[in-house]
Amino acid sequence: MTGSYEIIDHEFDVVVVGAGGAGLRAGFGCAEKGLNTAIISKVFPTRSHTVAAQGGVSAALGNMGEDSWQFHMYDTVKGSDWLGDQDAIEYMCREAIPAIIELEHYGVPFSRTAAGKIYQRAFGGMTTHFGEGTAQRTCAAADRTGHAILHTLYTQALKHHAQFFIEYFALDLIMSDEGECLGVMAWDLDTGILHRFRAHQVILATGGYGRTYFSCTSAHTCTGDGNAMVLRAGLPLQDMEFTQFHPTGIYGAGCLITEGVRGEGGYLTNSEGERFMERYAPSAKDLASRDVVSRSIIMEIKEGRGVGEKKDHMHLNLMHLEPEVIQERLPGIAESARIFAGVDVTKEPIPILPTVHYNMGGIPTNYKAEVLCPTKKDPNAVVPGLMAIGEAACVSVHGANRLGSNSLLDLVVFGRAAANRAAETVTPGQTHRSFGSDDGSKAIARLDHYRNADGSTSTAQLRDQMQHTMQDHAAVFRTGDVLDAGVGKINECFSAKVDIGIKDRSMIFNTDLVEALELDNLLSQAVVSMHAAANREESRGAHARDDFPDRNDKEWMKHTVIAIDEKGNTDITYRPVIMTTLTDEIEPFPPKKRVY
Ligand code: FUM
Repeated sequence: MTGSYEIIDHEFDVVVVGAGGAGLRAGFGCAEKGLNTAIISKVFPTRSHTVAAQGGVSAALGNMGEDSWQFHMYDTVKGSDWLGDQDAIEYMCREAIPAIIELEHYGVPFSRTAAGKIYQRAFGGMTTHFGEGTAQRTCAAADRTGHAILHTLYTQALKHHAQFFIEYFALDLIMSDEGECLGVMAWDLDTGILHRFRAHQVILATGGYGRTYFSCTSAHTCTGDGNAMVLRAGLPLQDMEFTQFHPTGIYGAGCLITEGVRGEGGYLTNSEGERFMERYAPSAKDLASRDVVSRSIIMEIKEGRGVGEKKDHMHLNLMHLEPEVIQERLPGIAESARIFAGVDVTKEPIPILPTVHYNMGGIPTNYKAEVLCPTKKDPNAVVPGLMAIGEAACVSVHGANRLGSNSLLDLVVFGRAAANRAAETVTPGQTHRSFGSDDGSKAIARLDHYRNADGSTSTAQLRDQMQHTMQDHAAVFRTGDVLDAGVGKINECFSAKVDIGIKDRSMIFNTDLVEALELDNLLSQAVVSMHAAANREESRGAHARDDFPDRNDKEWMKHTVIAIDEKGNTDITYRPVIMTTLTDEIEPFPPKKRVY
């Protein structure tokens, strides 16, 4: 017992936090290699947010025409607006091909071509010959690819006997006084008992923090818990100013309508019925990268060509597609459009608006999934015992803007890389290190603080204030004035958490307490995102500033590295973008003007 809490101790070789695509891939990969592996998840694994991924997973298989991993790499570097690390991008695009074949062998029910090969559709920013044609590179299981992959990976984890701790909420990392990660504290929501996990490697696969915003495609569970644990451990996050707005969220509801719709031939129109993307991206049109399409939509609206009573959104048309294409390739979005917009997609356009979708920033790692703690002396220094993968991580393969379908790819490639690295660094059953001044007591003190919080602000009120501040001050287009005002307002939100009051003191399925802990996690990420955005005086990828409209490679081709202390003070440094490749099979792509 520590204080009034019962604690159960565990020892594992590896503990994975999060059971989405990345966590499951890493978890069963470790178990397969003989490491005693725990997977902790706050939701049932197949309810993780990966399940919501629609359009597909990229890999240059070349099933539908010419393609190569080198073309994929070029597109990803260009998509990242030259903020992505090129060693990691090379690794991801090269590994994509065996990773997808592996998924096929595990049993992912991909859609098929007439010849029985994996079906691939076009997605934004994907080309052949280094920017020339359109590549059909996105491997799809209709428009439910994430669902298919997640369920398959879960069965693999069961097969390899990874040990699950389901509906356990991870509270905090346990760090040694020397800065190594020794384990993690978690709360079993069902029994109310705390669990202390020792591990030689903790792998954070806790997803993104989309819920810092009011309107997003992310599940309510996407609160970036791992990112916040890293910040509380005194470690920095990277590139937090880069939040992706997906061009086609359903107007009003925010649910995702896959880019696969445009990949299958759907297109956007304004109030004049004009296919406006032809003006903004003459070559790629509706299949330009997401940052470009989202900005174009907002510009059309600003110039008075929005549709609807308030002229505040756009139309996505797929009425011209054959009903069989919709039935076979896009059944899920036809259903979402009917439920959330009351639209029959065979007869009417879908009302859409750019909606927060993905965090390019997160826990800095190298391409082996090891967490970086960049110092002036060594920008590539790693934190012993700690790894991060998936949307929680910033490898950085997505840089300033992620290409659609590179996210599911990131999960499986770096999930596997983490398992490989864990197997290289951990001997099954090796002796655990002893705790230093923190044996989990810091995590318990924080839990205890919120459990007894009796202030006058409700979690819901403060969350609403934070989400609207992010929505209003860190949107698709930004300016110095708006961001500076945002910094003031988000700092106020952070300070206001001392006044949170919760009603339920129970330890058994206390969702009131869970939401307060999640809000605390979100607040620190909202603060670092806003501060990082205010500091970056250029436009690059998803960070578009009206007052600094151009990319400035001379001063700003560098990653933001940002930490925060308990009082909410931030500390910003920068680390260079990696401009070298891993092998001599390909030269790095030097920066150039980004047009689609
Ligand atoms: O549009 C989509 O289907 C989303 C895919 C992605 O974010 O990778």
